[in-house]
Parts: sequence; C-alpha cells; structure tokens
Amino acid sequence: MDRSTLSRRAFAAQAAALGAALAFGRASAHPAPAVLTERRDLFPQGVASGDPAPDSVILWTRRAPDGAASTHRLRVDVAADPGFSDIVARGDVAVTAATDWTCRFLAAGLSPAREYWYRFIDEAGNASRIGRTLTAPAEDDDRTVTFAFVSCQDVTQGAMNAYRRMLHEDAHRPRAEQLGFVLHLGDFIYELVWYPEERPNGMERGRRLRDIVRYPTGEKVTTFHIPANLEDYRTAYRGYLLDPDLQDARAQWPFVPVWDNHEFNWRSYQSQQIIDGAIRPAQALKVAASQAWYEFQPARVRKGGTGDVFEAPAVENRPLTDFDARGVGQEPNNLAAIKALQIQRAFRYGGNIDMILTDNRSFISPGGGYEGLPPIKFGAMPEEMLDILDQGRAYADGHPPATIRIGDLEFANSNADAPPEAYLGLEQMAWFKDRLRAARAPWKIWGHSFGTLTGRTDPQNLPEAFSDQWPAGAGYGVTTGAYRLEHAEIFDMVREEGITGLTIVAGDRHAFWAGYPSKALPPRDFDPVGVEFVTGSLSAQTLGEVQRLTLPKDRPLRALNIHDRPDGSMECSWNMTLMHGVRSSLTLKETGDPVQARAARNPELAPHLKFLDYAGHGYATVRASPDQLETEFVCIPVPLERAETGDGGPLVYRVVHRVSSWRPGEHPELRQEILEGDPGLAV
Ligand SMILES: [Fe+2]
Repeated sequence: MDRSTLSRRAFAAQAAALGAALAFGRASAHPAPAVLTERRDLFPQGVASGDPAPDSVILWTRRAPDGAASTHRLRVDVAADPGFSDIVARGDVAVTAATDWTCRFLAAGLSPAREYWYRFIDEAGNASRIGRTLTAPAEDDDRTVTFAFVSCQDVTQGAMNAYRRMLHEDAHRPRAEQLGFVLHLGDFIYELVWYPEERPNGMERGRRLRDIVRYPTGEKVTTFHIPANLEDYRTAYRGYLLDPDLQDARAQWPFVPVWDNHEFNWRSYQSQQIIDGAIRPAQALKVAASQAWYEFQPARVRKGGTGDVFEAPAVENRPLTDFDARGVGQEPNNLAAIKALQIQRAFRYGGNIDMILTDNRSFISPGGGYEGLPPIKFGAMPEEMLDILDQGRAYADGHPPATIRIGDLEFANSNADAPPEAYLGLEQMAWFKDRLRAARAPWKIWGHSFGTLTGRTDPQNLPEAFSDQWPAGAGYGVTTGAYRLEHAEIFDMVREEGITGLTIVAGDRHAFWAGYPSKALPPRDFDPVGVEFVTGSLSAQTLGEVQRLTLPKDRPLRALNIHDRPDGSMECSWNMTLMHGVRSSLTLKETGDPVQARAARNPELAPHLKFLDYAGHGYATVRASPDQLETEFVCIPVPLERAETGDGGPLVYRVVHRVSSWRPGEHPELRQEILEGDPGLAV
C-alpha cells in the first residue's frame, strides 16, 4: 500500500468519527459537469469552514431542495488557488432532508498554514459561492498567530457591521498578519424572537425588528416566541445565515464555534427550561437544539453514530431529582440529552497556542433559587453571602454555616445541603485539567462562553443619605461572579503546578472586559493566575443601551448607571461604578470631570479589572507570539442598521492590551494602549 492509500484510510476514519464525508486527493468524486454556473440562490446559507488543523479543515454548505427532490448529490472541490486551476482535494456526498440538506466534508491531506479555496457543485453543475479557508500552522511553527473572537449576534434586532469591519480590516493586512480563524463563543442564534407585527411599530426596546425567523411550530412566551422542536431550531439557523455579512465572514475564515445559552434556551440548565419561573423538563428539545447546531456548524464535535446524519437519542422529558456532587442530574434521559452532542474540545494551533474549549451550559447546575433571603434594595449581593450560597454544602471544606450573618443581617442558609453551583461538572472538569496540564504552547487559551471575571461594586461607600440601600457591614456587592468552587479548583491548580500563559477569552456579557482571573479579591488575597478578555456583543443589546432607554430620569442613584451630560447626551457610568466605585460615579455627576471622578476611586474595589465597557459592541482579536500576547478590542457604534459603507461604518475606539509571558510564581501584567477613538469611562 502506498503512502497516499494509508493516509486516505487514516483520514477516512477521522472523517467517519466526525460524521463528515471525506475530500482527499483528486480522483474520487463524480465527474465534473462541463459547465459550472454559480447559483447562490440554490445555496442560500452560503458556505463555511471550521476547526482548522495543520492537514485538514471541515467544509460546510446547505443545498436547498428543489421541489420534490429527495436527494442532491454534491461534489466539493478544494483548490490551492482562487481560480481552481490547482485542485488538491475532491469528495462527494448525497444530501437529504435528514440533515436539513446540509453537508460537512473533512478536507484532508492539506499543507499547514496555507490558504485554500473551495466550492460545492450539484449534479446539474450548479455551484455555490466560493469559500476561502486556512489550515493551522504546524506545531513546531512559532510564527505569530492571530484570531478573532466574537459572540452574541442577534440578526433580528441589529446589523452585522462588526463582521463587515473585520472583513475590511483583514483584507487590508499583509497575509502574515491576517486572522487565522474566528472563535465564536456562542449566542450564534437568539432562540427568543419577537415578531414585528406583534410589537408597537415593529420595534422592541428601541430596536427595529427584522422578519427573519418565523417558527413553523414555536411557542409564545409573554411577548416573544421560542422554538418547540427541531424544525424550529433549523428555521432559526437558516434565517440567520441569510445575513450577508455573517455569510461573508463564514466564507472568508474558518470558524471555531461553541455554544452559549441561546442556542438552546436563554434560561435553562442541562436539559431543563425555566419558563415563567417554572422548571420544565425539555430533554427532547435539548437534543433538537444540539442536532440543529451540529447540522449548521462545521466543527470537530462528538455525536452518536458515524454517519453524516445526527442520530438523535430517544429521550423523554423528565424532571431532575438526583444530582451528583456538582449538580448534574443523574436522570438517564437528562444524561442522554446533554451528552447527545459533545462540543468540548482542545487543539493546538501553531507553536504558540493551545486552545481548550468548554461546554458551559450542558452540565450547569440548577442555579440560585435562593430562598428566604433578606430584601436588599441595591441590586447586588453581599460578597460573603454569595460565597456561602454559591458553594452550598461544599463551603468551608464541607462545613457550611446553618445561619448566615452579613453585617447586621442574619438569616438561614437555604443552600446548606445543596450541591455547589458549577458549570463544568465532574467529568468535564477532569478533562479540562488534563488538557491544561498537557498544554505545552506558551499561551493556553480557554475559550469560555461567559467568562470568569467578577463584577462588583462598593455600596458600603454610598453617602449616609443612601444608607437604606445596603445593609450595614455587608461589604462589597457582587453583580456578576459565581462558580467559586470550580474556579478555585482551577486557579489553585494553575498556581500550585506553575502553569503560565493562562488566557481566558469569553463572550456572553455584551460588554468588553480586560482583567485578571483571581480566586479572591481584596480585602482577601488578590492573586492573578492569568489574563482574561471578554468581547462585546456583535449586535445584541448591551446593558448600557437598556439602561439608557429604560432608567427613569429621577431614579435615585441614577448617576451610578448613567452619566447625564449637560447637553443631554448620556454615557454609561456603570463602567466607572464597577471599575472605580460609587464615589467616582457620584463625583462625576457633581463635577462632570472624569479626572476628578477617577481621583475619588476606591483602589481596593477592582484591581482585577483594566478595562470595562458595558455599552460597546464589536469584536476582539488576539495575536500570540512566543513571548507576548495582545488582545485588541474593536468597538463600533450600536449597529441599529446596516452600514452603508464597505468598511462596516465608523469606529468608537480601538484599544489593545498586551501581556508578556510570565514565569511560575509571577503575576501577569497588562499594558493598555488606546490606538484610536475614545473609550470614555471604560478605563
Ligand atoms: Fe448574548
């Protein structure tokens, strides 16, 4: 057997394990029709590629069915040039309704760090648009590598100007500096959809509603609609992928996707939905959401069976009763549903990056149904109270207090017997730690859909007149940040085993953050174990926008959320409240001067934050060389409508944070540079 036959066999096995057809070598496919006609209308969701390796990449398309056709035969051509004169791989496959007419190929036998072009051709010679993709550099190649990370694209309420901007900037860079891939950290779709004719003037909270997703079945919950079955989820993906800018992005770079919550249900855990405050077993729906994701995302993920078709396990909708030590329901239908598709994975990308991607939603614990808590006016939770409730029966090495005393409050610990809040689960945690230990590249990047950085403020420093807002002696108030047991387990391991280069990249928060993950914050030990960056949303609404539209002008302490300038314009002062403290935001209201406001800061509040913008949209890019990593935030204005210019419209700011490699025992140090525009109160 010659080498080519051997590699064909190895790649064929790899392709089968991924549920993909194989494109390898030039010979195999059905003969090319003499004349090709590009017919984008027959491939309405465009083309895509994903999960690049040094010798292979996954290719994807959807050939919409013609009338009563029960199948289409698709060939894929992969070429080393955009004119397709040098074809390097070919494959063919039948597509049917069983995959919603989508297909995936493993294009294999490719060379590392190379550009390739691909297109799909049906039995009649109708061709898709041409896609371009890139393979990963080899493991021993220490060239600087670059990727983008994004999240939260609601195409029904906004425009994909961020992708347009990313395409424009990349096209103007030398090849060596271009993006290698786009890491999509989830909320690729928003499963909750408002129908324009059902909302006043076709608007929802200041956003024009686009008629892009109509569920064939669906279910109406209050004012919006959610999917009820597989066909509904497929409908959402089909609609989303009609967006021209998203489609261009998928045709230009390989994507590396993970999901967040909206790919299944905005308020859910494992296979359970929470609708109107009530838990609803939804094992079948969880499987349907996973199937649709699998069909529309080219990724090296694990499902049951070896064919292209997703073999959905038969599950019944059952409540969860019996939980393991990290809150994963042991009910068999739940386990079958949450493992039907496993998206957690790890890969090396060139010499500088080890990427580890976790599934933060399928194993997440039921979450804070905290009962009997004392009422607190200020919208935050005293840090110590969160710490105790969040860790449940695992608090203090298994000795949680029966009664919680916070300042002058005292109440029963309703979580004393509950499992700790967690999202990785025991199995995934063990896998994650193994992968982190095994990572040899200087930068160990954890793709994490929602991020670990704590958001907190200091309501204990409010003026006397507001003493009714916060319990005396309650200390800091946390607005974001839980899962302390799992984070401590990981961060302790990083510290104890001298792991360096930990870089967390995240989405979900609809905000840009740069900072340092740490097990605890002052007055307890602040001990940064890595760096973390969270990207702003592509289009989904930010907290800053919502507060601007909804906070009453006469609301007491409005200044903590919004800075009203004399000219009537507004700025998101919540950034300042979380980075510098309540005194800074109140000083800003009095003086209108950010410099004086920052001078009034509480330096103990947020030593872990370097940048925070709860009002910015856009994307982020990472450049990793052997001894430095830099992350750039590219912020655009609220993308209400599609930009009319090819560059995606203006920028608000471009900020870069650089970090040099650090040695075991040292702390990383972020250096900030504002390259363009003005990030305002985000610094
Ligand atoms: Fe989101």
